[in-house]
Amino acid sequence: MENTTNVIEMKHIVKDFNGFKANNDINLTLRKGEILALLGENGAGKSTLMSILSGLLMPTSGEIDVRGQEVEIKNPTVAKNLGIGMVHQHFMLMESFTVLENIILGHETTKGPKLDFKNAQQQIEELSQRYNLNIDPKKKVSEITVAQQQRVEILKVLYRGADIMIFDEPTAVLTPQEITEFIQIIKELAKEGKSIILITHKLEEIKRAADRVTVIRAGKSVGTFDVSDVTNNRLAELMVGRHVNMKLDKPSAEVGKTTLKVSDLKVKNKQGILALKGLSFNLRAGEILGVAGIDGNGQDELVRALTGMQHVDSGKISINDEDMTNQKVRKITEKGVSYIPSDRQKYGLILPFSISDNLALQNYYHQPYSSHHVMHYDLIHQHADELIKKFDIRTTGSSLPVSDLSGGNQQKVIIARELDLDSDLIIAFQPTRGLDVGAIEYIHQQLLLERAKGKAILLISYELDEIMQLSDRIIVLHDGDISGEVKPEETSDEELGLLMTGIKKEGNALA
Ligand SMILES: Nc1ncnc2c1ncn2[C@@H]1O[C@H](COP(=O)(O)OP(=O)(O)OP(=O)(O)O)[C@@H](O)[C@H]1O
Ligand SMILES: [Mg+2]
Repeated sequence: MENTTNVIEMKHIVKDFNGFKANNDINLTLRKGEILALLGENGAGKSTLMSILSGLLMPTSGEIDVRGQEVEIKNPTVAKNLGIGMVHQHFMLMESFTVLENIILGHETTKGPKLDFKNAQQQIEELSQRYNLNIDPKKKVSEITVAQQQRVEILKVLYRGADIMIFDEPTAVLTPQEITEFIQIIKELAKEGKSIILITHKLEEIKRAADRVTVIRAGKSVGTFDVSDVTNNRLAELMVGRHVNMKLDKPSAEVGKTTLKVSDLKVKNKQGILALKGLSFNLRAGEILGVAGIDGNGQDELVRALTGMQHVDSGKISINDEDMTNQKVRKITEKGVSYIPSDRQKYGLILPFSISDNLALQNYYHQPYSSHHVMHYDLIHQHADELIKKFDIRTTGSSLPVSDLSGGNQQKVIIARELDLDSDLIIAFQPTRGLDVGAIEYIHQQLLLERAKGKAILLISYELDEIMQLSDRIIVLHDGDISGEVKPEETSDEELGLLMTGIKKEGNALA
């Protein structure tokens, strides 16, 4: 029998940030044991609403009932005591601490005057086993992968006894394989009676994981639907308020001269192990070269070597026939390389700085934005306003710190800045991570426009869909080398899948 007990009821929630209503009369109910997806475009107010539920923000007005009782969630401790736990969009772990320390931080059990590490460790190991999380509590957070860090966040929430669990875009940082495992984990949790709110922009995941979906748009409720009753197209339309083209129109490529030439590239990873084992490929003007592959097969090292952030052991990188091997980051940028990083908060943005300063990061030091060491702020602001408009960055002004933007809008700031540089080579590493379907459509069109302008685009992505839709050619990275090169119109997800695991297709002259 279907269980329809509501564990959470949020009624008429309003959150006002200095006159801007990020939540403007939102209703949401969560039933016991269900997975409820929360869907809405970038800046719609999802993280804000969930921060209210987890006690990080107080609503301006509205009512929250937890298990039928009206409550006031004044701080995270109140939320914790109500059994509400949240895994945030950007993780909140201390890198230099161990997993164990991170999990018990702020929730220490004591044995007399001492911390009871042993007992904590045992409990954590039990939880890790029970939910198949595969986490070693003694490892340092800096030593584990992003997917594992996320599992630490899940463990943290479980350890604190939450039975209402909120996940803010958990899959944005995961590879397809990890996503499948994650969905299994939350389904298991729901089966055990935990109630789960899942924020994701990927409509496919909502289909796979959720029972119901609540859609919000521009801070307002649009409605709640049974997942089995709505199509992906309908969901996209409900969230953006217009028809979204999920298939791209891609004109044929007009390729020019070679822009990027990589020959016999060897690069070691952070542990000193060879991560690129003699990689060679070319990328021409007017072409999008997709780099497919499972996370950890040399993608990071390739990007870091190309952008000058990591030392190349041997081999050569030339850009427009000029040797750029082991050059400084700024020199490479100035030679005409734009870079959209996959970790926006680590590499792409200076969070406390304003949107306009972040938009000017690559060009504030030269004409026309400054001359003779004097910055021309009116020009910088004016230019920022143009980019905000062009890329539809949802904000109330360019002087706001970037940290106040929603996650997806932070991503748009980087893309706007980097595409605006008018570089010959664009390195796009997971460029649409965390973007809503409308924004993805827009960014994909922008990349195609750059291609039409004769730019060379290197697209490294773990999203096969994105690779298949945009690329003119695809190389597959496996174990630091290319396991195959294919054309999107001549390959299939299955073939790519095999190449990604290192199995080359038969009867084909693949190098
Ligand atoms: N502290 C703040 N001060 C001012 N405005 C804020 C603040 N926090 C969020 N906002 C604004 O509220 C709106 C909603 O942001 P929120 O982070 O809830 O969006 P979201 O739906 O989670 O989007 P995304 O999918 O991009 O993560 C955004 O326009 C954002 O700029
Ligand atoms: Mg968000």
